[in-house]
Amino acid sequence: MSILVTGGTGYIGSHTVIELLEYGKDVIIVDDLCNSKIGVLNAIEQITQKRAKFYEINYLEKEELRKIFEENNIEMVINLAGFKAVGESVEKPLMYYRNNVVGAITLLEVMQEFGVKKFIFSSSATVYGNPDKFPITEEFEIGHTTNPYGTSKLMVENILKDLYSSDNSWDICILRYFNPVGAHESGLIGENPNGIPNNLMPYIVKVASGELEVLNVYGNDYNTKDGTGVRDYIHVVDLAKAHIKAMEKLEKEKSGLYSYNLGTGIGYTVLDIIKNFEKVNDVKINYRITERRPGDIAICYTSPDKAFRELGWKAEKGITEMCRDSWSYIMKRKNIKKLLNERGY
Ligand code: UFG
Repeated sequence: MSILVTGGTGYIGSHTVIELLEYGKDVIIVDDLCNSKIGVLNAIEQITQKRAKFYEINYLEKEELRKIFEENNIEMVINLAGFKAVGESVEKPLMYYRNNVVGAITLLEVMQEFGVKKFIFSSSATVYGNPDKFPITEEFEIGHTTNPYGTSKLMVENILKDLYSSDNSWDICILRYFNPVGAHESGLIGENPNGIPNNLMPYIVKVASGELEVLNVYGNDYNTKDGTGVRDYIHVVDLAKAHIKAMEKLEKEKSGLYSYNLGTGIGYTVLDIIKNFEKVNDVKINYRITERRPGDIAICYTSPDKAFRELGWKAEKGITEMCRDSWSYIMKRKNIKKLLNERGY
């Protein structure tokens, strides 16, 4: 029996595939490589000494998906395929809804056809909108999303709820990620967005490496300890491990619909992250305070209690590992590039 992972060569996908392979699972990756590179497969193999089966397709291609379900004995699907840039989603809502919502529906339809009803969905803290109480727990109402990306996650969550009500033999786990950062400690896989990054950690890394000149800190007049925004950063390897716990839960349960917040429960400000990054990696981050970024909320952190109680999962890596591993991934890539250049490749 295999686990199918859509988006398995992406940032969270690749780390999750590693955990699955190390756990001893057979893994099938479906990814169209629109936001990842084929080389990730070799890196995964180098780390785990195992190879996932790979299909380069877009998960919206129903016929192709059907073939995969025909060719393989799939027990569970982890859906990590999705566009995730908030700003881009505002400019291209149809593209986001098609990919994130129609994609999920297509996948669920094919699963239903083949009687595969165990599903893990990657959602986001963004489905809670702008709460006024902290920490955020799973009891909080979801809704009031502020951009098409967030709304696409909310829509799929609602679809899953309706699907489960219509047929409660489905066994579904919704994972709401807070702010994933860091990289595998091998330095072989990590996050390396093309162009100018939207998110804080990839931006800091590019400033530290000299690729970008200065980090804009979006606002220092929020009601937080130093005025800058507070987030719950979580190491991507911890996040990947939560998928294993969710998988175990679904393997144990016959059916159900569960949702879990995945974070550390600790909120760090932007300045906390900068200072920690500088200290851990002995580098300087050139930054300046600018206007608030439209759409940003002041504070966002979770209580990880439910995930601990019900999945037995809690984050183990702290801010030091998050800063260290984000940096060593990029340094390793830079060194490899330099070596190749020197050798005339
Ligand atoms: N920030 C800066 N400068 C930057 C980038 C970010 O000061 O160049 C600040 C933001 O204002 C915010 C914090 O750093 O206070 C974190 O910002 P990110 O862009 O890294 O992350 P967000 O919390 O805004 O967004 C993340 C995910 C989204 C998701 C959202 C809510 O990237 O996909 O959390 O769950 F929707």
